[in-house]
Amino acid sequence: MERLSGIWLENLSTGRNNLHMDTSTDIQVKQQVRQFYDQVGWQEVGEGVYQNARFEDLRPVSREYIHNCHLRVGKHLSPEGKFFLDAGSGPIQYPEYLEYSKGYQARVCVDISIVALKEARQRIGDRKDGGQGLFVVADVANLPFVDQAFDGVVSLHTIHHLPASEHQQAFLELFRVLGDSRTAVVVNGWESSTITDFFVAPIKWGRRTRRRITRRLSKKSPGPPGPKTSAVSTFVNKHNASWLYDEVSKIIQLELYVWRTVSVRFLKAYIHPHLGGRWILRQLFWVEERFPQYMGEHGLYPLIVLKK
Ligand SMILES: C[S@@+](CC[C@H](N)C(=O)[O-])C[C@H]1O[C@@H](n2cnc3c(N)ncnc32)[C@H](O)[C@@H]1O
Repeated sequence: MERLSGIWLENLSTGRNNLHMDTSTDIQVKQQVRQFYDQVGWQEVGEGVYQNARFEDLRPVSREYIHNCHLRVGKHLSPEGKFFLDAGSGPIQYPEYLEYSKGYQARVCVDISIVALKEARQRIGDRKDGGQGLFVVADVANLPFVDQAFDGVVSLHTIHHLPASEHQQAFLELFRVLGDSRTAVVVNGWESSTITDFFVAPIKWGRRTRRRITRRLSKKSPGPPGPKTSAVSTFVNKHNASWLYDEVSKIIQLELYVWRTVSVRFLKAYIHPHLGGRWILRQLFWVEERFPQYMGEHGLYPLIVLKK
């Protein structure tokens, strides 16, 4: 199996590594992101659950909505092909992710975090239902693959970790390695959402106040000196829909839909099992299905389809 993977990757690879083209600040950003995911984000905190899962709502009340949002990605991809690229794969956190590459011979997972790829390898190993796993440490803005190498491409929640100057380049790279008449799906968060900002404002205010009070209290009675807690987040840079139209859709043919309108912060604050949470989310999903473009532009998480 190892030999086969080697031969396959040789056919895909350009044999180059463009990382040296980055400025030193860009490299520092990427190193910091990698370090965060290696040391914090992809550390397991429970059976198959990573520290990073606190950015997701895993409660039963939201499960159906979250599951259906995940499945939206697959609807825009070719159901079968030879190579499937998952750019910024992480450890393939959710079972729905394997559905996208079910009809492919191989799923190529790319990530700058080696820990992510080791976890991904453990998860899919030699399973055939998500395609044979191949694992490459690389940068999504400098993919080491030949043009048109892939029949299907996804990049989920990854481009926002790049320095702003490289977002357009990352889109171009995903497009370059995509085969003719094929589609790629990118999911990324917008920096804000006209639909949810109104609801999220009081939550942010509450958090800020809590933090201020805690800081004041700890100044009054500082605890014993001890090790500093590890970082809880890393570099993120987000845009809005006009950026995408101005900077990307001029060069690449794309369509914009909704992946999910609301944030996890919103879900945890407003969606509860005894307050009709499941029902509310069903209505929200219905609205998203009815007005996918509007909700994609004005909600929090767009689903961007690149068409070649
Ligand atoms: C928020 S996680 C998302 C992982 C996965 N796509 C998902 O949706 O669960 C972002 C992932 O992108 C990876 N990443 C960040 N910057 C990257 C880069 N420049 N090139 C490749 N991967 C990168 C991180 O290591 C991390 O595994």
